[in-house]
Amino acid sequence: MALVSLKDVLADARAGRYAVGSFNVVDLVSLEAILETAESLLSPVILSIAEVHFKYVNLENITPTIREVARRANIPAVLHLDHGESFEAVMRALRAGFTSIMYDGSRLTFEENVRRTSEVVKMCHAVGVTVEGELGHIGGAEGGSGGAVAPPEEFYTKACEAVEFVERTGVDALAVAIGTAHGLYKGEPKLDFERLAALNCALGIPLVLHGGTGLSVEDFSRCIDNGVAKINFYTGMSVAATEHIKEKLKKSPEFYDYPGLLLEAKEGIKETVAEQIGIFRSKGRCTPESALCRVCSGCGRRSGDIRTATAGSSLTTDMEKETLVQQIVDATIDVLKRMKM
Ligand code: 13P
Repeated sequence: MALVSLKDVLADARAGRYAVGSFNVVDLVSLEAILETAESLLSPVILSIAEVHFKYVNLENITPTIREVARRANIPAVLHLDHGESFEAVMRALRAGFTSIMYDGSRLTFEENVRRTSEVVKMCHAVGVTVEGELGHIGGAEGGSGGAVAPPEEFYTKACEAVEFVERTGVDALAVAIGTAHGLYKGEPKLDFERLAALNCALGIPLVLHGGTGLSVEDFSRCIDNGVAKINFYTGMSVAATEHIKEKLKKSPEFYDYPGLLLEAKEGIKETVAEQIGIFRSKGRCTPESALCRVCSGCGRRSGDIRTATAGSSLTTDMEKETLVQQIVDATIDVLKRMKM
């Protein structure tokens, strides 16, 4: 089973001083591009769908496909709700079978953020789903076309508040505000590494960096060295996809092959994701010796037998039978979890 929770992958990342990329899925093209790249680089990956992107992708339609392809992947993959701000989005993601939820109460008062995040944690933990919270406010707009600036310092995460927040809510990971913003930065982002180091010292859980697009290799490196185990990255993928399409149309203005343009977009996303995986130091982490293997075991199926089997042939190898049993067990657990709700 290669579909895991956030806790499963972030524990190894924290211990091994690397970060797992959280890349936004907005359609089947981005899903395949992200997963194929992570598989080829033997890197764990987080497949995120943001509530603000529900307008592009029907959650209930795409989730069974994501679960199926992630289950067959040779690497551990997390299916994560990104910036769930409404109770409805959290419930839809849980019902659809997400393995991880981000509840973003960062626009609320501290007390209200604690109250609502605690409710989400209670509900999610009861069904084995992990939760990321946000304290302080990151700002900007994902995929925003320029001009993103981090909010003023008063909105940055404060270590003493963060300790109280984590204790009272029980979140598994915390998104921190240290000077990043979503979208394309206006000017050069300046991160508060002193604050990040203090947060890392004060908290015993993995930290999450949002607004990855536009940060330098050195920024990423210093963040990872100071406790960041999950990095969110989206706008750069969107830019690469669009640039590839533009380039194609510039060279061939009469090109009207729509799926051909989707392949161009996919290529752009793959290149970007591969580059980020290298920078996040998660490339090659899926080895038989890695602790990730204990939670995933996806690489045992790398031979391709299962793909053939699920395409219609009869089950002949032990591995095929084992996987079928695992799939039945998973499906049963899913049903039981839902009944609990
Ligand atoms: P960017 O779009 O700036 O890379 O940020 C992505 C993000 O933080 C998703 O939550």
